[in-house]
Amino acid sequence: MRVLSGIQPSGGMHLGNYLGAIRKFVELQHQYDCHFCVVDMHAITVWQDPAKLREQTFHIAAAYLGAGVDPEKAIVFHQSGVHAHAELAWIFNCVARLGWLDRMTQFKDKAGKDKQRASVGLYTYPVLQAADILVYKATHVPVGDDQKQHLELSRDIAAKFNHDFDAENFFPQTEPLIKGPGARIMSLRDGSKKMSKSDPSENACVFLADDADTIMKKIKKAKTDPEPLPSELDGLKDRPETANLVGIYAALSGRTDEEILREFAGKGFGVFKPALADLVVEKISPIGGEMRRLEADPAYLQKIMTAGAERAGIIADQTVKEVKEIVGFLA
Ligand code: AMP
Ligand code: TRP
Repeated sequence: MRVLSGIQPSGGMHLGNYLGAIRKFVELQHQYDCHFCVVDMHAITVWQDPAKLREQTFHIAAAYLGAGVDPEKAIVFHQSGVHAHAELAWIFNCVARLGWLDRMTQFKDKAGKDKQRASVGLYTYPVLQAADILVYKATHVPVGDDQKQHLELSRDIAAKFNHDFDAENFFPQTEPLIKGPGARIMSLRDGSKKMSKSDPSENACVFLADDADTIMKKIKKAKTDPEPLPSELDGLKDRPETANLVGIYAALSGRTDEEILREFAGKGFGVFKPALADLVVEKISPIGGEMRRLEADPAYLQKIMTAGAERAGIIADQTVKEVKEIVGFLA
C-alpha cells in the first residue's frame, strides 16, 4: 500500500483539516509507505501573495510535523520541489476530457459566477491532483469528504491512460480513505457549510494555531439551538449545528456519536460546550504549540522539505520515465 495526500498552503490549518486529513496521516505512517506534500502549485490556481505563500507552505509543514508526522518515516515535501508532478500533469491534460472537468463541483464553487475570469489552472486543478497521486502510483489517499469527486477523476484518468496506451494495470485504481469520524466538519457558525479556511467569519473555524482562550471563546460562541442534547441519533436530525459539535466531540475523543449522546442526554449547551471546549484545547493546543516552535525555525522546515523532495523525486522521476516511453517520447 502506498499513500499520498496533500494540503494547499492557502490559509490557516483548522480542525477540519486535522480531523479529515492530518490525523489520518499520523496513523497511516506507521504501516505504509507515505508521501505527504504541501501542494503549492495547487494554491496558485487562485492569487497568492508570494511572501505569504512561502510562509503558509511552512505553516502546513509545521502542521504535519506538529501533529505527529515523522519525516523519517513519511516523506514530507513541497509539490513544486518535484518537477515530475508538473510533467505528468501535462500528459494527463491530454488524457482527461473536457466533459469530465466540466462536472467538477469545486471548480464551480471556486470560480464563482464569472468563470471567464478564473485561471486555466483552476480548471485543470484536478488533473494536477491526479498527477500528484499517480506519479507515486499511490493506492490510498486519505482526505476529507470534499475530495471524493477529485479522486474519482484520478481513477478515470488512470483507467483511460492504461486503456489508451495498452498498459494494463500501469496506474492503480486509487482508493480514497475518507470514512471515519471527522470526514466532514462543519462551520461553527453555520451547520450547512463545511469548516473552511476561506470562511469570512473567523469564528467559523478553530485553527490549530489558536491559543486556548481563543478556542474556548469560539466553542462558546458556536451556533446552537435552545434544546438540550437528545439521547438518540435520531434527535440530531434537523439540528446540523448540534450534530456537528457532537461529531467533533466524538472524533476527538475516539468515541461514537451514540456514546457522546448517552453521556450528555438531556444536558444543555451550558454543560456540553465547556466540556467540548476543554477537549478541543486538550487535543489541539499541544499541536499549536509545536507548530509555533517549528514555524520559528523555517530553515529546519526547509531542510526537511528539500530532503523529502529529493526522496520523492527519485520515485516520481522513475514513473515519468516509464510514462514517456509508453507515450512514445524519445528518451
Ligand atoms: P484544503 O484545506 O482544502 O487544502 O484541504 C486539505 C485536506 O483537509 C483535504 O483532505 C480536505 O478534504 C480536508 N478538509 C478540508 N476541510 C475539511 C472539513 N471541513 N472537514 C473535514 N475535512 C476537511
Ligand atoms: N485538492 C486537495 C484539497 O483541496 C489538495 C490536494 C492536491 C490533494 N493534490 C492532492 C489531496 C493529492 C490528496 C491527494 O484539499
